[in-house]
Amino acid sequence: MSSNIIFNSKLPNTGTSIFTIMSGLANEHKAINLSQGFPNFETSKRLMDLVSENMLKGNNQYAAMQGNLDLRNQIAKKIQSLYQKDIDPNTEITITAGATQALFTAINAFVEKGDEVIVIEPAYDSYIPSIELCGGIPVVYELEYPNYSIDWDKLASLFTEKTKMILINTPNNPAGKALKASDLSSLETILENRNTILLSDEVYEHLIFDGKIHESVLKYPNLYNKSLAVYSFGKTFHNTGWKIGYVVGPDYLMKEFRKVHQFNVFSVNTPIQAALATFLEDPNEYLGLPNFYQAKRDYFLALTHASKLEPIHCEGTYFQLFSYKNVSTKSDLDFAKQLTIENGVASIPISAFYSSKRDDKVLRFCFAKTDETLEKAGALICKL
Ligand SMILES: Cc1ncc(COP(=O)(O)O)c(C=O)c1O
Repeated sequence: MSSNIIFNSKLPNTGTSIFTIMSGLANEHKAINLSQGFPNFETSKRLMDLVSENMLKGNNQYAAMQGNLDLRNQIAKKIQSLYQKDIDPNTEITITAGATQALFTAINAFVEKGDEVIVIEPAYDSYIPSIELCGGIPVVYELEYPNYSIDWDKLASLFTEKTKMILINTPNNPAGKALKASDLSSLETILENRNTILLSDEVYEHLIFDGKIHESVLKYPNLYNKSLAVYSFGKTFHNTGWKIGYVVGPDYLMKEFRKVHQFNVFSVNTPIQAALATFLEDPNEYLGLPNFYQAKRDYFLALTHASKLEPIHCEGTYFQLFSYKNVSTKSDLDFAKQLTIENGVASIPISAFYSSKRDDKVLRFCFAKTDETLEKAGALICKL
């Protein structure tokens, strides 16, 4: 028998993700799965019809590397109406295979060995491995329970000559916190004379509540000139499995982005892009989202009101955090497992979103679920 190949793992610290662990446990114990971030209701029937129409009429070969031009035109229109920013669809938008690929490509296009990248945690789990794969050094700023707000002076002190990039995510998964105009202005000041790219993960741009307005980097000309902003149709149109997103940024950054994009996906699903181009012609398809998800958040809060868990205010995203400090002193991972096995509801422990595994006794529940699922989960949570 030949011997195994000897190699150094490029991601030695990466194991099975917490999402796989909790979903596996949920399946095993037939628990209600509020752990992973995806809706358990259907995407629009009209959108599915548009996809099949496009397949049937032969829209099945490679799309343009930058993405379907009709779709890029629609995105530019959407950006103009939401953020009053003129974007050139030819040079400033690229369609990607979801936001994760856009983030990975953006990081790999710019971060070189030894470059520092500031990451604000709790954070989406792809950021740090993507930085590490290209030899970058993650520099972590921790948001703290219960406010999860940024102290910009503290954050500014993390910058060095080597800071190539900073990642922000608003509204933030998992904290449910949305940056305010004053936050973006602070960031603008910090980045003013620095050679640092801003990578802005805005996949929850439409999931923002209580009349708050999404503060996109696209609204701030000084920020835009050094930014790449990332979006996901999966989050907006309830079809996370389709994996289509896009990235927006000034042409000189987009040129470099496309050099890498061209060799890690080349181009993205043709019939779905064509379908999305038609679907986006009606802004009502996304303008109703804040109300739709705010109603779900409020219903879930009402259903869990009588429980011992303490909710932490969710300004955006489809995640509700709860502190369980009145219920248990167990670690958040152990408590999340107990809740799944003994009480029948799966969630995600927030320590999973911190490199330090910081444990504030907080769990994340996804409320992108049917009312029936939320009702069942709420009843179980109230029995705690
Ligand atoms: C903050 C954040 N960014 C990016 C993504 C990934 O989006 P996509 O499914 O389009 O890759 C997610 C999905 O959970 C997310 O929460």
